[in-house]
Amino acid sequence: MTKKETFYITTPIYYPSGRLHIGHTYTTVAADAIARFKRFCGYDVRFLTGTDEHGEKIQKKAQEAGMKEIDFLDEQIAEIKKLWEKLEISNDDFIRTTEKRHTDAIQKIFTKLYEQGDIYKGSYEGNYCVPCESFWTESQMLEGNRCPDCGRETKIVKEESYFFKLSKYEDRIRDLFESGHFVAPESRKNEMIKNFLDPGLEDLSVTRTSFDWGVKVPFDEKHVIYVWVDALCNYITALGYMSDDETLYQKYWPANVQLVAKEIVRFHTIIWPALLMALDIPVPKMVFGHGWILFADDKMSKSKGNIVYPGPMIERYGVDALKYFLLREFSFGQDGSYTHRNFVNRINFDLANDLGNLVSRTVSMVEKYNDGILVKNDAKTEFDDSLIDLYKEVRVDFEKQMNELMYHEALESIWKFVRRTNKYIDETMPWALAKDDANKDVLNKVLYNLCESIRLAATLFSSLLPTTAMEIFDQLGIKGKDELYSWKSCDTFGLIPDGTKVHKGKVLFPRLDVESEIKELENLFAEKIVDQEKPLEHKAEITIDDFDKVELRVGKVVKCEPHPKADRLLVSQIKIGSEMRQIVSGIAQWYKPEDMVGKEVIVVCNLKPVKLRGVESQGMILAAGDDGDDLIIPQATGAKDGAEVR
Ligand code: MSP
Repeated sequence: MTKKETFYITTPIYYPSGRLHIGHTYTTVAADAIARFKRFCGYDVRFLTGTDEHGEKIQKKAQEAGMKEIDFLDEQIAEIKKLWEKLEISNDDFIRTTEKRHTDAIQKIFTKLYEQGDIYKGSYEGNYCVPCESFWTESQMLEGNRCPDCGRETKIVKEESYFFKLSKYEDRIRDLFESGHFVAPESRKNEMIKNFLDPGLEDLSVTRTSFDWGVKVPFDEKHVIYVWVDALCNYITALGYMSDDETLYQKYWPANVQLVAKEIVRFHTIIWPALLMALDIPVPKMVFGHGWILFADDKMSKSKGNIVYPGPMIERYGVDALKYFLLREFSFGQDGSYTHRNFVNRINFDLANDLGNLVSRTVSMVEKYNDGILVKNDAKTEFDDSLIDLYKEVRVDFEKQMNELMYHEALESIWKFVRRTNKYIDETMPWALAKDDANKDVLNKVLYNLCESIRLAATLFSSLLPTTAMEIFDQLGIKGKDELYSWKSCDTFGLIPDGTKVHKGKVLFPRLDVESEIKELENLFAEKIVDQEKPLEHKAEITIDDFDKVELRVGKVVKCEPHPKADRLLVSQIKIGSEMRQIVSGIAQWYKPEDMVGKEVIVVCNLKPVKLRGVESQGMILAAGDDGDDLIIPQATGAKDGAEVR
């Protein structure tokens, strides 16, 4: 027997600091689909997910909940595991960064890097964003020393710190980017080169002393290891790297695909390969940065009450309706918007109409016209060849699209065939054939071809929608006969044995009333989650004269564009009375350029101009955001531009 080729796929490890929404589940559902597909194709697959449990943010959350960190985490992790079970995620391992297998290995990794000189001791003063666990330089920050990732204010942290010699690996990382497909899609690679490699890599502070919820530096225990270094290494510690048993590591590393969403591509394509290079081990073959799921063009967030959670959707529509929607609706590399209407329409058009109807009509006809028995004979209709030819095309396209992680295209290919099969019913008109006994053979052949087409479509999508595929195999009377829905079985049209008995089962996807269903969904997710009131932290008192120094005016946004060099920034042209001002703001995560145009915003006019990533900003737009993940731009609707705000 030849040895199976291995395939190692990972998701990011999740922060266990709250309920996961459908945006979070997107990465895992996509990883699961590819893991299942590769297993299906005969690979020896290892699929890893887990949780990222250290850092100041988690420690604060546990304190807020009045719990010990580990007790807080245990509760959260139980919920996450339950969710993956509900979603039928087929991970082979689940790593928690608080597990001994991980913390022991992290300490060994850190010591090795220190002993060989890749980590050294120094001191650090910089602007730190607690929620993002990231330090930012002057040129990276937004106005008001705000974090370019989340827009929140950073705080100055001065500490003794160990540093990782990231700068030493700059040339090798550039080479890595330029050779092959390490970063995908291509657009992410260009962003990384432009935003991080071109300005030059600085050494990275990799320990903290300001809190203690983390893996301790073994030879200097007042330091804990930077949470991103700790977290990234999960991909190898889960395989036993630096443990007594490295069998899995030897077998599966380097990973074939590491899936991440776009905002963490930087960590995975710069810091991560540099760490691996320092350890002198191979880098992953590919890091794929997918897009974000937005909620009607807005970011999902608790306080806006627009979060869509997977649990209630699975209960109401079934696990595969959610999976199908996530994988089919959004183009994997790009951002996409969730709307209740799109969700309901996908269920109605694709699942209930195209697929569900095809299965139920076909099975009903076999029961009605031939007592549920399938007959394999040599009869032929003039429509058979084009049906089978299309299938052959789809089979080839599907494989290619899956291997490129183009799930939406892969599903569309199958649905092209599903729709073609529906057309075959209209072309062959089995009900008309049934009127004359002389057509019995042709009728049976048509019914056979229909079932065979359904078998093949369901076999192809069985890695993406496993529950539905199994339900269909059951209705086709072939459940349990694995060879009829194996990958190999997809090569042949005509495998269902003569005499197979089909039987009608439950409706796969009931048709929904669009308007009332949208209302249902709105009610399902209407609940606004009110955060526990926290005491406010006030700044030092100022006098009215101090306040008077700030010139606030109403400005009308007349033009707004993305910043040419920074994803997080928008560049607005703002009319303030007789003047035009250009203002750069870190709001791209919450607002699209076209949403900004026409807004009557409040501008700080007498702020000293600064250059933000090379573009001059002549002032600041006021925005309201707290420790949650929202940012709202207050508007002076109706006020004249140029008017003073007091
Ligand atoms: N803990 C880090 C990852 C460390 S990996 C060494 C983290 N965790 S997370 O819980 O915030 O996010 C987990 C994954 O969900 C990330 O890939 C994240 O980007 C993704 N998503 C969270 N919200 C999302 C959307 N709205 N849309 C798509 N993906 C999103 O990041």
